This record gives sequence, structure tokens and C-alpha cells, in this order.
Amino acid sequence: MQLDERLSAVAKFVRQGAKLIDIGTDHAKLPIYLTETGKISFAIASDKNEGPLFFARENINRAGLGDKISVRLGDGLLSVQAGEVDTIVVAGMGGALIKEILSLSPLVLKSVESLILQPMNEGNALRKWLYENDFYIEDETLAKEDGRIYEIISAKHGQRDMPSKFELLFGPVIFKSKTEMLKERILEFAEKERKKLRGMEKSEKVKTTVEYTLTQNKLKGLEELLW
Ligand SMILES: C[S@@+](CC[C@H](N)C(=O)[O-])C[C@H]1O[C@@H](n2cnc3c(N)ncnc32)[C@H](O)[C@@H]1O
Repeated sequence: MQLDERLSAVAKFVRQGAKLIDIGTDHAKLPIYLTETGKISFAIASDKNEGPLFFARENINRAGLGDKISVRLGDGLLSVQAGEVDTIVVAGMGGALIKEILSLSPLVLKSVESLILQPMNEGNALRKWLYENDFYIEDETLAKEDGRIYEIISAKHGQRDMPSKFELLFGPVIFKSKTEMLKERILEFAEKERKKLRGMEKSEKVKTTVEYTLTQNKLKGLEELLW
């Protein structure tokens, strides 16, 4: 099984020998790759829809891994019991949905070592939720696939200070890295704010609003982050 850059970055955060559940596994690419490469020997490939699971089962059987990967139908973490796994992967879903999936199963959450999350959006709100719920980000990275930059977060249990607003937005670990990909991401965010301002500037009335000033300040803050 070949993984793209995004799922490869997720796979790199999985500890050797982990027992993991891949929530929203779709075609089970990640658990198949991790099992084939010997990084793990047991996984649960779970999805709330039967359609993707049909292909997951086919791929797992074709790879001869039916005895190592358990396929389960279920919403979020409802398909797993506390103690069955030590690592939870949730990739390719919105940040709000990931938060909801984690919030709904506190016992399972308490029983695992590590969360590996790849939100498609609202990474800042997800990070905030992690820190509010006694998790901290021990590592994180960016991966680029087809011109889009993705964030991958590895979180562990532990109380830490809440990161700053911009650290929540770009990731406290990523923020320290000062990589070219981070710069590209900051530029993308700044461009979004510039576009918003250009739209607002068409109306003299809108230019007097609090939202206009807030957008100006946000753009300035983003520009100040650049190096
Ligand atoms: C965009 S795919 C992501 C697939 C894969 N995880 C990846 O990152 O490439 C999202 C998958 O999540 C599943 N899904 C959506 N909501 C879910 C939930 N609450 N619980 C479990 N699976 C869910 C969908 O059926 C779909 O297969």
C-alpha cells in the first residue's frame, strides 16, 4: 500500500508496536500500510458508513491482513472499548467533527496514550480543545499534497499552558519550526485577510465597523509573524 504525503506524515507519528484505531478509515489505507510495513501488528479500521467499509474489507482481504485488522462499523469511538487500543487516529475530517468524536467517548480517550489528528480545517479550535481537556501537543508537522498544506497533530495526556492565539492557529510545535511550508501557510492566511479587506473597502460604511478594524489588525499580526 502506498500512502500520499498527508497520510505518510500521519503514519510517521504512529509509535512502533502501537495498537491503533483509525476512525473514518475509508478504504483502510493507513492501517494496511502500517501493518504491511511491520510498524503495528493490530489495528481497528472503523467507519460510520458501510460504503467505505466495503472497500476497506476488500483491500484488507486482498492484502491478506484479515487476522490483523478488525473492520468495524460505528460512529466515532463507539466502535471500540476502553483498553483495546493505545492510539487513536482521526484524519481527513473537520476540526469540529474531530472534537465531537473525542468528546463523546471520555473513557476510551482516557485509556489511550496518543491521539494523532489531521483536521481539514479549524485546527486552532481543535488545539484549544486539546489543551482545555488536559492534552498537549508533543509533536506536529505540515504536509503538502496536490498544492494543499495539511496539519498533522500528535497529542498526549498532560496539563500544559494554553498556547498563544497564533500558536493555536499554526500549531505550537510547527510555529517554532520556522519552515518554508509554515511561511507559505502564513502567507496564505494573510492573503485571505487581504482579500476580505479588499471586499470590505468597497463600502465606506463597512470601513467604519469593528470587523474591518479587527481584520486589519489580524492581517498586521500575520505579517509580523513572517521572517
Ligand atoms: C474524507 S474521508 C477520510 C479518510 C481517511 N481517514 C483519510 O484521511 O484519508 C472521511 C471518512 O470518515 C468517515 N466518517 C465521517 N464521520 C464519521 C464518524 N463520525 N465516525 C466514523 N467515521 C466517520 C466517512 O465515512 C469517510 O469514510
